[in-house]
Amino acid sequence: MNIFVLTGAGVSAESGLGTFRDAGGLWSMYDLREVATPEGFARDPARVHAFYNMRRRVHRDARPNAAHHALARLERELPGRGGRLTLVTQNVDRLHEMGGSCDVIHMHGEALKVRCLSCAHVEAWADDLSAEDACAACGRRGGLRPDVVWFGEIPMHLERIHDELGRADLFVAIGTSGTVYPAAGFVAHARRAGVPTLEINLEPSEAAPVFDQGLYGPATETVPAWVESVLAR
Ligand code: OAD
Repeated sequence: MNIFVLTGAGVSAESGLGTFRDAGGLWSMYDLREVATPEGFARDPARVHAFYNMRRRVHRDARPNAAHHALARLERELPGRGGRLTLVTQNVDRLHEMGGSCDVIHMHGEALKVRCLSCAHVEAWADDLSAEDACAACGRRGGLRPDVVWFGEIPMHLERIHDELGRADLFVAIGTSGTVYPAAGFVAHARRAGVPTLEINLEPSEAAPVFDQGLYGPATETVPAWVESVLAR
């Protein structure tokens, strides 16, 4: 069985990373037009750097939880049962990798990487970033930005994601509110292709009626239990 898993902020919530739209979420504290759009960055790069410096510090100290570990186990053990896992995440943290996942498709990029606006060079970046920092490849100062996808930009790896979605036998969305496209449209795509769909979330999301099945509770409990049941089949 080929399983396609899409994760969102809810999978990292119990690792101490805030979600975006729950009560007290990031988008209730920050104006996303100011800190998560190319226009906001052009207007005030220092404000955007300060936001991502804060997020980078939180991400650097976070540790994977039981849900990340369970998905890594699924990746390792499905091939022995004739299957395969495709793991697509909207999260910009590294917790899936730290939990042991080898092939993680980061459709919204990664906060612990920066990209040069001049030469497109991408490099790992764990420290604070400022408008004075220089690109290691071309030497230009002031052209580095977080290697994340902002509102109004096209998500990464969409071609591979659609190929993998076309090969899936089961679609599972974990810890995502299903409000940001194109990721929010994957479930409808799967349903049109006759692929069974499962939502795993703290509580039914607004998109819950579109799914065939739901499994509700904290990800650190529901995801390991679901992985166990898949591998026991
Ligand atoms: P949201 O904040 O929109 O949704 C988080 C979801 O996680 C909600 O449906 C919660 O019910 C669920 N949740 C919270 N705690 C949980 C837990 N312990 N266990 C299981 N589920 C839990 O986050 P996303 O859907 O990931 O994009 O947001 C999608 C995109 O919007 C993000 O990638 C980001 C954001 O703006 C960009 O920045 C481009």
